Amino acid sequence: MRRPVFNPLAERYTLMSTHSSQSGQQFRNVERLVKGVPTSDGAGVRLTRVLTQNLQRRLDPFLMLDAFRNENPEDYMGGFPDHPHRGFETVTYMIAGRMRHHDSFGNSGLLGPGGAQWMTTGSGLIHSELPEQEQGLMEGFQLWLNLPAKNKMVAPSYRDIPPQAIPEFTTGDGVRVRVIAGSSHGLAGAVQRPDTDPLYLDVHLPAGSRFVQPIPSGHNAFIYTYRGSVEVAGTAVPDRHMAILANDGADAVSIGAHKEARLLVIAGRPLNEPIVQHGPFVMNTTEQIRQTLRDYQSGKFEAAAVQALV
Ligand code: CO
Repeated sequence: MRRPVFNPLAERYTLMSTHSSQSGQQFRNVERLVKGVPTSDGAGVRLTRVLTQNLQRRLDPFLMLDAFRNENPEDYMGGFPDHPHRGFETVTYMIAGRMRHHDSFGNSGLLGPGGAQWMTTGSGLIHSELPEQEQGLMEGFQLWLNLPAKNKMVAPSYRDIPPQAIPEFTTGDGVRVRVIAGSSHGLAGAVQRPDTDPLYLDVHLPAGSRFVQPIPSGHNAFIYTYRGSVEVAGTAVPDRHMAILANDGADAVSIGAHKEARLLVIAGRPLNEPIVQHGPFVMNTTEQIRQTLRDYQSGKFEAAAVQALV
């Protein structure tokens, strides 16, 4: 089968065959490589915005992916002081370092290496995410996952997932797979979400190994390399790059590593609903955003929290 596929090396579309395995599985091609945009957020935390706003439609239901890896405390010490959210979910996954979070409902938790926090911001909360260390490496990711219109105003909730609560397995090839959400090779992950059916894997490939992950052909999918480079359907994906996987009808991704590598594999079912983002608020219409700003400015986010505590 030959289809026009964007060739990131040539920066144009070329005809490429859909790669297939002996079992008849079809493997997705790489549509585009994205390096991300260096930026700073919160109180001066340096990070790379990998999934930027212009990719929200293409990667629906995912709204944002930030990657941070800072050795210098000056680049992370400020953390993310009190700020509001409404209308989506945030998934924070730590590789190194410790982050303390507090929210306006009185919840608090400590996120450490290999752990995750899954927060449904729903109708709104105010929270802070602050480093709990003064030196050393701080590394991790924050992914924003949209909520369907019917759930945007649900009561906020969150789950701290310690490292040992994230299911993992090792393939015959020695590939270690941590299943944060969705399922992989029959192993259910820590979180399931029926509306968007998100898949979130942390995959560690030893040198010379290959990993195949089935992904429904209708789901939007990408990988992000955070240690070393990999190869996907003949395309080299360099270190610290997102590869958007083509929606080319294939039902799996095949990832190979010549040298040891680590990456995230993320996929989900698109919501196909309007997306209107204003900073930390993501709704379906501009009127809902206006209402959100009114609610925030009139102190409704705090009031909701006080109500939840009594
Ligand atoms: Co936040």
